[in-house]
Amino acid sequence: MKTAPNLFFSSLCSMFNKLQQKWNVSSGQLFLILCTFAVTGTTTAYISRVATSWVGFDETTFWAWKLALRLSILIFGYQIIILIVSFFFGQFRFFWNYEKKILRRVGLIPKEPIRLAIFASGKGSNAEKIIQYLENHPVVSVSLVLCNRSGAGVLDIAARYGIKTVLISKPQFDNSNEYIQVLKNEGITHIVLAGFLWKIPENLVKAYNNKIVNIHPALLPAYGGKGMYGEKVHQAVINAGEKKSGITIHLVDEHYDNGKRLFQATVEVLSTDNPDTLAEKIHALEHAHYPKVIAEWLKVK
Ligand code: GAR
Repeated sequence: MKTAPNLFFSSLCSMFNKLQQKWNVSSGQLFLILCTFAVTGTTTAYISRVATSWVGFDETTFWAWKLALRLSILIFGYQIIILIVSFFFGQFRFFWNYEKKILRRVGLIPKEPIRLAIFASGKGSNAEKIIQYLENHPVVSVSLVLCNRSGAGVLDIAARYGIKTVLISKPQFDNSNEYIQVLKNEGITHIVLAGFLWKIPENLVKAYNNKIVNIHPALLPAYGGKGMYGEKVHQAVINAGEKKSGITIHLVDEHYDNGKRLFQATVEVLSTDNPDTLAEKIHALEHAHYPKVIAEWLKVK
């Protein structure tokens, strides 16, 4: 049985682990970030307390003026103080990005462009729907298509829309940072897998932590995992006599078809269905939802 201090310690550790993953930082950097928050909090609280006397407020001053001054320092002064403090902890860049997010959210600076890379292995019908949906979008653009099969339909689609393509090879993909560098050079911010059949290596998952989305042609966690793609999934669903199948859109982590699920939709499997007819129904569902779910995920809908 866990004692109270043990329980407290393990939940604290798990909270730190979650923060580390969310911010994609080392444990040393997480420590410096937390120090920045702590020092900023106490400094701001202190300044907000003494500032009333600095500006000459006393007990005769109307209480609402004092409250307004303290709140402005706590809300707005905090944002400036945190940047100053972060500088001394060597975390200015992290906090400047954090401040930019707030300024963007309140509309004080324009949204940063989102540049998508689509990874696909085959026909590319999903890729095409996504490209069409985001064409002329003010913030998002499909900037690169990466494919592992020469002659795949998705390469023609990319060419038709004037999108740059990269043909990738397995050894480099699995064992080097070559394609991460390509993505970074193109300013890619997010990755969309649209019928991409290779497992995403750990270095790429880390470089684009929570920024890779995948579509799977079944209702995960069923009918997922290694070797489960395209027609094989539909055949397995039919063989098992399932009455329904569907699609799952999820974030990508180091394991096959395992990341956080963002969306599912279902379709009926009829006794007359074969893998081709089921694939057709699944494709229709994918085309109707994937582009919209991507836009929602990117918060640009
Ligand atoms: C889609 O049905 C997609 O869900 C599936 O490949 C098909 C690609 O079609 N992906 C997987 O099976 C991944 N495990 P498309 O090339 O016409 O977009």
